[in-house]
Amino acid sequence: MAQIAFQNVSYRRGGKEIVKNLSAEFAPGDFVSIVGPSGSGKSTFLRLCCHLISPTGGKILFHGKDMLRENPIEIRKKIRYCFQEPVLWGNTVEDNVAFPYRIRNRKADREKIVSLLSRFHMDESCLTHDVKSLSGGEKQRIALVRTLLFEPEVLLLDEATSALDADNAELVEKEIYRLNQKGVTVLWVTHNDAQSRKYANRLLTIENGQIQSREELK
Ligand SMILES: Nc1ncnc2c1ncn2[C@@H]1O[C@H](COP(=O)(O)OP(=O)(O)OP(=O)(O)O)[C@@H](O)[C@H]1O
Ligand SMILES: [Mg+2]
Repeated sequence: MAQIAFQNVSYRRGGKEIVKNLSAEFAPGDFVSIVGPSGSGKSTFLRLCCHLISPTGGKILFHGKDMLRENPIEIRKKIRYCFQEPVLWGNTVEDNVAFPYRIRNRKADREKIVSLLSRFHMDESCLTHDVKSLSGGEKQRIALVRTLLFEPEVLLLDEATSALDADNAELVEKEIYRLNQKGVTVLWVTHNDAQSRKYANRLLTIENGQIQSREELK
């Protein structure tokens, strides 16, 4: 059974059909790159995948069950979405990395936080930094750390390395690939052609709200 299945999914907003009758299936452990022109509906597709928005037509199944009938908060613990524009909250980096523990009523695991920060070339000292003072690339990496502190079943990445230099982008790619090797399903929207083909097993091109092509990569 597919982990996530789109069955003739449409999404209409403001008189415009942004996603049109889209069908696709994703299996556990898939690594799928999603490419396509700006405005074609890629971010909308990811938002549908984690029930941040609901389809206006068709169905999305998660493990065979209609996603609309599941608790969206529980869905989003399992299917984690890393936004195209990273949104940090509170005042400090610590407020952000403590958040995943807070919503699970658990004490923040400082050792794990510091270890994950170091994987992304950041150290403990950044925990007290004001989020308003961070660069775009730092914000992107903190948002990733916040997303990855609890391993998701499915990871949705929306241009997750767009603000990073080549070295940091490679660190992120390797970390995501490592998670994928452990079984995490990855759906990654990227405008970077080399990145789209590096680790993925499938490449989907979305154009005009529809899947325009599907390519098996390995
Ligand atoms: N909430 C909304 N209300 C109205 N229109 C929207 C909404 N969200 C997205 N759109 C429109 O839907 C289209 C697809 O947007 P989307 O953000 O999914 O594109 P994208 O493929 O992710 O583009 P990019 O590569 O630039 O990030 C765009 O024309 C956008 O303006
Ligand atoms: Mg987008």
